[in-house]
Amino acid sequence: MAKILVDINVLLDDFLNRDVVCKELIDKLVESQSELFITASMAATLDYFLNKYEADKSEFKRKFFGRFKIITTSGFDALKALDFEDGEDALISLSFQRAVGEGIIITNDKGFPSNSVKVLTPKEALKQQDIFNNENNKTIPILDLKKQYYYLIEDIDNAVLKNIADAKYILGSQVKELEDKIAGYIGVKHCIGMSSGTEALVLSLRALAIKLKGQEYFDKTDGIITTPFTFTATGDAVLRAGATPVFVDIDPITYNIDPAEIRECLKSEIQNPKSKIRGIIPVHLYGKPCNMDEIMDIAKEYNLFVLEDVAQAFGGTWRDKKLGSIGTAGTFSFFPSKNLGGFGDGGMVSTNDDELAELMRMLLKHGGKDKYNVDHIGYNARLDTLQAAILLAKFKFIDEFNAKRRSIAEVYNKELSGIGGLVLPGNNSTPQLSNSLTQYFTNVHVYHQYTIRVLNGKRDSLQKHLKEKGIDTMVYYPVPLHKMEVFDGRCRVNGGLKESEKAVKEVLSLPMEPLVGQETIMKVVETIKSHQ
Ligand SMILES: Cc1ncc(COP(=O)(O)O)c(C=O)c1O
Repeated sequence: MAKILVDINVLLDDFLNRDVVCKELIDKLVESQSELFITASMAATLDYFLNKYEADKSEFKRKFFGRFKIITTSGFDALKALDFEDGEDALISLSFQRAVGEGIIITNDKGFPSNSVKVLTPKEALKQQDIFNNENNKTIPILDLKKQYYYLIEDIDNAVLKNIADAKYILGSQVKELEDKIAGYIGVKHCIGMSSGTEALVLSLRALAIKLKGQEYFDKTDGIITTPFTFTATGDAVLRAGATPVFVDIDPITYNIDPAEIRECLKSEIQNPKSKIRGIIPVHLYGKPCNMDEIMDIAKEYNLFVLEDVAQAFGGTWRDKKLGSIGTAGTFSFFPSKNLGGFGDGGMVSTNDDELAELMRMLLKHGGKDKYNVDHIGYNARLDTLQAAILLAKFKFIDEFNAKRRSIAEVYNKELSGIGGLVLPGNNSTPQLSNSLTQYFTNVHVYHQYTIRVLNGKRDSLQKHLKEKGIDTMVYYPVPLHKMEVFDGRCRVNGGLKESEKAVKEVLSLPMEPLVGQETIMKVVETIKSHQ
């Protein structure tokens, strides 16, 4: 996708109807998939000319600012620009290069400084068809974080620069603001920012050990039921909290932990005099909610805690309740690739339990209310203020992005259905009849991943075929947790875990970037269809 900066003279020639070439160019650019930019330094100059020619400023804003993104001009760029003959053009070029790396500047000015960017006149640009329609020529990543940054660039740059200037780097006001906003969104009393989704799991479990057992850690006789078909952190956190992971198999349709298998496991575990099951960690894998009705019923029956691992499912719902609000607590990851991702590591815990919330707030700051006189074995696991500021900016768009993910999934569902040897994920959102038989409820899958199953041993060759055509895919996950060395001798396994062992050989996650167009998804679809 071309990244294009259009200079002031070209924008004005179009807006003031001074040149037909510029008019045609801008019309085509605005219609294209290209990413269009101006720099902050250009905005004031544009304003000056719009005033001078008594142009309709609100019309200009409507036409351009929805489509063109504004790149921040830094003081550093400004200082460097002073060394050039034409400082104004140099400032535009330097800011653009810093933000996009490689790109195209379209200008009528001669001698525009270039370096890594290409400089074209409007006439030359019109001749380059790939500027307007090049989505099909490039590789397709599984996710495009740069694209997401450009989409939110003004909000993000503002949040970052303001935070740096505020200089409240540790537990600044943005951390509390984010915690409160997410608590309101999810519908829980407390949200507690953490340094990662992994720490969110560990600290939740540590707080549960302190609350339930009056001990700093669980011990090996404490079993915690979870799925082996997840990211390592889910099981690893159980070990770090001192307990034993007890792996039970998944449902082959949803890839989530199978409640029937949890029941089987509990029946056999009850005979074990050396162990006591304390809780369940269901993972809402790929953004799809687990069957929380059955899990909560089992938990009630056996007096277990439920810690929802919502790392992949921010914004998803079960029976119209946001994930993370149903169990004893929920843990979130803000790893950059997550549905709500920061620009580094980050995480959060949600809970309605006052005692757990207070314990976690102590644990994340070395273990005490008073940092210099602590009660528990603690961590330094705070969410950075800078990450919170970025996440606040991104949080405004989470529902829009999740909706875009669901519509991409709909295209995949429609276009890939009926292809032999492929199994598609379940429906986008599944209306189901509630217990009372009078009400429908909705489970919303937020498609952190769109994961297909490739049968007949053809997964790896399909992945290779897609790679050769420039399409990235991923296998989440190639090894089930119970087969990893770290869990060897440290976990228990219920039954054969056959479905998990089958899934690791068959699953393939396809590109799922909320901001790509239908054309890109169709290229993925056609490439899959062309695989023999
Ligand atoms: C299911 C699951 N649990 C836990 C984590 C850990 O989150 P983080 O990477 O933020 O530590 C992740 C993310 O990578 C995950 O996908």
